[in-house]
Amino acid sequence: MYLRQKIYTAFFFSIIFCSVKVFALTPEEVYKTYCVMCHGMTSTAPQFRVAEDWEKPLSQGMGKVYENAIKGLAAHPPRGLCALCSDQEIIDATDYMIGIDTSASE
Ligand code: HEC
Repeated sequence: MYLRQKIYTAFFFSIIFCSVKVFALTPEEVYKTYCVMCHGMTSTAPQFRVAEDWEKPLSQGMGKVYENAIKGLAAHPPRGLCALCSDQEIIDATDYMIGIDTSASE
């Protein structure tokens, strides 16, 4: 009986652990799961931490860049295909991709 309880407890915690991972991705995980397929290889998308690719988008101001990332822009799909990402996760992934310090970006 005691062993069974332990197994249940382990099962319970592993479920919590897994759901936390699914619902709260780090900016790096969001980038590597969703954005990299366009922003991490040769395509028309501004590339990962390539400063000159980001000059034009950044000239609109960060607010607009975040808005485009969330709502979509031309070949960039809404939320970069991460339908379950929150606005904040997209914003953080954008900062990670551009390579700026998130805390200094607002
Ligand atoms: C299907 C390919 C694709 C995916 C996936 C994708 N993007 Fe994009 N993204 C693009 C393209 C193409 C552009 C350039 C759009 C243009 O300027 O016409 C772009 C542009 C952007 C821009 C610049 C917006 C601006 O104002 O110019 C940001 C920020 C961005 N993407 C963030 C993200 C993030 C964050 C993710 C992952 C959550 C992501 N993208 C996933 C293709 C993609």
